[in-house]
Amino acid sequence: VRVLLTGATGLLGRWIVHCWRPDDGTLIPTNSRGGTLGPHPCLALDLTDAAQVQLALDQSNPDLILHAAAISKPEAARRDPALAWHVNVRGTSLLALWCRHHNRRILLTSTDLVFDGQRGNYSEDASPSPIVEYARTKLAAEALVRDTPGGLVARVCLLYGPSLGGPPTFFDQALADLRQGRPRAFFADEFRTPLDLPTAARALIDLAHSDVAGTLHLAGPERVSRFELFRRLAPVLGYDANLVQPGRLADLPSPEPRPADVSLCSLRLSQILPELHRPPIEEAASRWT
Ligand SMILES: NC(=O)c1ccc[n+]([C@@H]2O[C@H](COP(=O)([O-])OP(=O)(O)OC[C@H]3O[C@@H](n4cnc5c(N)ncnc54)[C@H](OP(=O)(O)O)[C@@H]3O)[C@@H](O)[C@H]2O)c1
Repeated sequence: VRVLLTGATGLLGRWIVHCWRPDDGTLIPTNSRGGTLGPHPCLALDLTDAAQVQLALDQSNPDLILHAAAISKPEAARRDPALAWHVNVRGTSLLALWCRHHNRRILLTSTDLVFDGQRGNYSEDASPSPIVEYARTKLAAEALVRDTPGGLVARVCLLYGPSLGGPPTFFDQALADLRQGRPRAFFADEFRTPLDLPTAARALIDLAHSDVAGTLHLAGPERVSRFELFRRLAPVLGYDANLVQPGRLADLPSPEPRPADVSLCSLRLSQILPELHRPPIEEAASRWT
């Protein structure tokens, strides 16, 4: 099986490349500029360039597109909504159209932020109601993928773990502060169901090999705040847990609202991939040390 991965140079994409095993088939990593990704050549597939997308897909002829490219930061989408819609929605439509014409599958990585966060513990049949621009683009992209036969939308939770290259992430910067003994505040009143990156990457590869279609929530086993997440990570990584301090959403005014509780229910996932072990926070962290 030939799987074309978009966003291979992103946080999640790099972990997918890292977790890919020889028996998973042929992986075709792509990003917007091409180049190399460690030992792997990375094909140029700029989602804003329809002709290049068409050519890259025709030439590489994948059985499945694992679509992990996006303008993925809410703040970036707020600052440049036109670009976010261009990449996240029009770009997805190009991929979905190619899949429809060639009878191939597409798997989209969407987000827990499609929910407004009023309730939490969302299952797949809950009604999305995004309150930030980024999530509005992702919800529009979801519809395009669900309209493609065999298409799968995996709504991914907050992912945590070290990056494997690229610019430092929020997570990398937070750990750097703790390593250097600098106290740092984390929201204690915003709830997610975070999952570690290697487990998320493995789950997405396994889903790529499945024939699951529709919508699926891919999230961690526990509902926690960022404060609790880092408070529990710190001692496992050898840092002082007291440096992790509670903050409140209200302390950091932002131009867009932040959903208070977008925790996801992953019951369907555990039925589909019963062998997938989603580690609790301490266990996930102990694997990186
Ligand atoms: N990280 C999370 O916690 C999280 C949570 C929920 C959902 N997700 C979803 O998971 C996916 C991956 O997120 P991420 O955190 O890995 O994102 P990321 O680190 O920001 O990486 C984004 C990737 O998209 C590519 N990209 C951007 N613009 C492009 C364009 N015009 N054409 C082609 N590729 C383009 C980038 O390629 P270049 O290197 O060439 O720019 C990069 O490889 C996204 O769909 C995101 O919505 C992530």
